Amino acid sequence: MKGVAAGPAQSEGEINTSARRRAWAERNLGDASRRALAEDQHHFLRQSVSTPCLSVVTRAEGAYIEDAEGRRYLDFHGNNVHHIGYGHPRLKEAIARQMDELPFAPRRFACAPATALAAKLAEISPGDLSKVLFTTGGSDAIEVALKIARAATGRHKTISFWDSFHGAGFGAASVGGEQLFRSHVIGPLLSGAEHVAPFACYRCPYGYPEKDGQPLLDLCRMTCASFVRYVLEKEGDVAAVIAEPARAVPYIPPPGFWAEVRAACDAHGALLIFDEIPTGLGKTGRMFACDHDGVVPDILVMGKALGGGILPLAAVLARPELDVAGDYAFGHYTHEKNPVSARAGLTTIQIIEEEGLVENAALVGAHALARLEDLKARFPVIGDVRGRGFLIGVELVRERGSKEPANDLAEEVLYRALDRGLSFKTTFGNTLTLTPPLITTRAQMDFAIDVIAASLAEAIDAVGNG
Ligand SMILES: Cc1ncc(COP(=O)(O)O)c(C=O)c1O
Repeated sequence: MKGVAAGPAQSEGEINTSARRRAWAERNLGDASRRALAEDQHHFLRQSVSTPCLSVVTRAEGAYIEDAEGRRYLDFHGNNVHHIGYGHPRLKEAIARQMDELPFAPRRFACAPATALAAKLAEISPGDLSKVLFTTGGSDAIEVALKIARAATGRHKTISFWDSFHGAGFGAASVGGEQLFRSHVIGPLLSGAEHVAPFACYRCPYGYPEKDGQPLLDLCRMTCASFVRYVLEKEGDVAAVIAEPARAVPYIPPPGFWAEVRAACDAHGALLIFDEIPTGLGKTGRMFACDHDGVVPDILVMGKALGGGILPLAAVLARPELDVAGDYAFGHYTHEKNPVSARAGLTTIQIIEEEGLVENAALVGAHALARLEDLKARFPVIGDVRGRGFLIGVELVRERGSKEPANDLAEEVLYRALDRGLSFKTTFGNTLTLTPPLITTRAQMDFAIDVIAASLAEAIDAVGNG
């Protein structure tokens, strides 16, 4: 049996076997935690960004998690499931009541919570997206979306972005663009999954310059969008373009990008699928990230926070005309119409709406970006600050001119921030990625930014511009 020696690029999160991770564990973990982590590693297959684990979580409440050492962290990571905060009392109560009323709906039966959630999703989604399938995870929902696109167009090819993540299944990994998930280790992926370079204005893959992270459109003429059109035309028979409207790494699209891609899809008979698994339900300060662009996809995929941070739930929403394969089965999952999960989804959306959480993400997110811009003025190692709402990135560089990634520094900042009670993740090794729950207050945001500033200052003293 072969092992895999050389590691792939760490686009998804910090390396979970690094020397710094080990040193953090030495400093922070007592005997009981060490034993629990050893047991975890004994039972679970090792995998990047997961096992071996950092610490043992024992509580998750509101915006906070606590580990077995009693350390409390403001959780600006949360896998993007914790929009309404962990363990929202109203959600727990609704789930408990639903378990009493109707715990499961076997195949062949409709149930009221599932129908109500489908109707609610159609109500809050843009355009005429209204035909729904539920799955238990985002990756499966992506598979369903791909199948719908194939069935509706009679084509099988896709265009997606390098560096994107769409899930771990074979279809999702095929359209994904990360080495971590689509390596030679797992063998051949779906044929016809074409990739193009994504929008990434600070590090434009086409080599165009930017100013303060913004594209110089007179120069680049949005080559990233033109290239999607180019490949659609050359291939001629693409079923769908699939992408995150705002990339969770994060990157915000240049203005007009999606309108141009939408027009190109229409011109070439391809569908547009938006993966809003992390961004949907308010993360970016609008209900959906694509609402910022005023572009409606043919298929919208959401997940993560839909289950309220308690239950696993994802959904695919399609335009009614895409309901074309009634004699076949695309998403016939055991928990397809689970009333308890559906109740969780419905209640989560009600909480988001009634507590004004989307507006909170917009307001507090704008405040955060302004404060991070101030930090950028103080710290030359901050090359770029970008984001929308509560999808925020702080990219660290060795030097602003060269933009050489400061991976070592970013990792040092992460562990120092954990010491100070703030959890987040790094993407591409050098970008501090902050995805707070939508309930985060201005005071909590200020605390987090103060932690980042202090950790950055300390980390620079410790490792230089790394
Ligand atoms: C953009 C995107 N798509 C798909 C997925 C996969 O979702 P899941 O982990 O629920 O399968 C994720 C999860 O991180 C994601 O961020």
